[in-house]
Amino acid sequence: MFSKRCAFLFALYILAVSNQIRKQYMSGKLKDKISVVTGAGSGIGKSIATRFANEGSMVYLFEINQETGLNVEEAINKEGGKSRFIRCNVADEKSVKEAFNSLLKENSRVDILVNNAGVSHIGNIENTNSSDMDRLYQINVKSIYLVTREIIGTMAAGQEGIILNMASIASKIGLKDRFAYSMSKGAVLSMTMSIAHDYIESNIRCNCICPARVHTPFVDDFLKKNYPGKEKEMFESLSRYQPIGRMGTPDEIANLALFLCSDESSFITGVAYDIDGGVMNLR
Ligand SMILES: NC(=O)c1ccc[n+]([C@@H]2O[C@H](COP(=O)([O-])OP(=O)(O)OC[C@H]3O[C@@H](n4cnc5c(N)ncnc54)[C@H](O)[C@@H]3O)[C@@H](O)[C@H]2O)c1
Repeated sequence: MFSKRCAFLFALYILAVSNQIRKQYMSGKLKDKISVVTGAGSGIGKSIATRFANEGSMVYLFEINQETGLNVEEAINKEGGKSRFIRCNVADEKSVKEAFNSLLKENSRVDILVNNAGVSHIGNIENTNSSDMDRLYQINVKSIYLVTREIIGTMAAGQEGIILNMASIASKIGLKDRFAYSMSKGAVLSMTMSIAHDYIESNIRCNCICPARVHTPFVDDFLKKNYPGKEKEMFESLSRYQPIGRMGTPDEIANLALFLCSDESSFITGVAYDIDGGVMNLR
């Protein structure tokens, strides 16, 4: 009886200490900000949404997958953060409009938009069919146009806003067998520069992040689908591609996203940030 009570009190003590430690690392860098993160149900988007909420932002999770979106919402809110899942297919104009209508009923502005949702595709020009091209364009490219267009006018009217797009090293260098994916991520880079230029006088900063391989469900699904039975071997080979010898983690990308979406980066716009374990400069 006594030892059970001791164990219970000890568990409470550990919980209190870990919450204290967690709070020390939060510095309220996004206090009172309203953010939208697309594709927030998994991988990089989930880490960014969680990090932003930990830093004091209200985060709207625009995600097509209801189950994962709700899970992230629950996890953030349980830890004392503020988030709300809004089901949204970012490639569909009507769905994007409905998502923003729902958000704007609660909050009249969005301070930060992270266009993160994206899908992968393997193939060279000959084995990429026309429906693959259309799908990659719709989800990775047109979505940025649809989502950003819906809110940038409100940001411009308020003379304040930050937009961060998820590009890739494929935006800048030739990756083997990534024809459609490279097309889409090249466009993410160009759209970033175009938006940054057009809205600089509206005090909107727009940047993009170019990660090399990051270990997320995106990578695991890709290996399962394209290299069945050889997942482990391919995982190691993909890890070695980065001169640093491993893949990145979603939290490492979230750290950079936080910097680029906070006032610490107030002089940075129109930049494509490599976060790549040395791929661009050391390979
Ligand atoms: N993982 C990597 O190695 C890597 C490297 C460079 C760039 N990226 C980019 O980072 C972004 C996130 O990748 P990840 O690895 O976290 O992927 P992930 O598959 O783990 O997560 C992507 C999320 O986007 C959501 N999504 C997909 N289509 C959507 C749609 N139409 N509407 C709304 N949500 C949708 C998915 O449901 C999922 O929750 C992508 O744009 C990807 O291209 C990833």
